[in-house]
Amino acid sequence: MTRIVYYTSTSLDGYLADSNDSLDWLFAVEGGREAIAEGEQFVSGVTVQVEGSTTYRWLIEHEDLIAHPEKWQKFYGDRKTFVFTTRTDLPVVPGADITFVSGPPADHIDRILTAAGDGDVWVIGGGALAAEFAKIGHLDEIRLSIAPVTLGSGAPLLPGGFDSTRLRLTSVHQTGQFIMATFDVT
Ligand SMILES: NC(=O)c1ccc[n+]([C@@H]2O[C@H](COP(=O)([O-])OP(=O)(O)OC[C@H]3O[C@@H](n4cnc5c(N)ncnc54)[C@H](OP(=O)(O)O)[C@@H]3O)[C@@H](O)[C@H]2O)c1
Repeated sequence: MTRIVYYTSTSLDGYLADSNDSLDWLFAVEGGREAIAEGEQFVSGVTVQVEGSTTYRWLIEHEDLIAHPEKWQKFYGDRKTFVFTTRTDLPVVPGADITFVSGPPADHIDRILTAAGDGDVWVIGGGALAAEFAKIGHLDEIRLSIAPVTLGSGAPLLPGGFDSTRLRLTSVHQTGQFIMATFDVT
């Protein structure tokens, strides 16, 4: 059965990216490669990924994906991607299966689940989008790689409005300097 999973790295104080939308702090932490390798096991069962436009633009710019679309294939294979945005001018990575959508996830959930088939849906981020999926009862799990870094500000892991009483810790272990924690969202 399809599971919708918000899987991300976060700072210890709950930020996905610093206030310049940079992840340099994350890549500097010991054990990052191992943490990513663990994530790849989960990602191998993913057939659809979902993200907001800041995350999509970061990937395009950071990895120079318009000039090097083969990197998208390397990272994401043939997975279908839904990018939430109100913009009409976002570039499409050549060859990638990308659909731009706008408005509440409730308006698109049937299409996302149909596209997923028997696979899982990976909500890549950001936090507000993940919280919107939770709000409509379509977030099953949160998987976190928690880095021992505090940022003080940035893009929040889960902004206000998320009901944290719904979280149940189901597993936790250490990889390098990361806490790997998984929660069911009840
Ligand atoms: N640590 C990690 O592993 C990790 C994982 C994911 C992301 N990140 C980083 O964290 C940051 C996340 O950025 P963010 O907090 O701004 O979140 P985001 O979800 O990536 O982008 C937010 C933007 O997406 C668009 N959007 C979101 N929901 C929408 C909806 N329902 N309908 C229409 N448009 C919608 C809006 O912009 P427009 O309408 O202007 O398009 C909104 O401002 C990025 O820097 C990203 O690179 C880090």
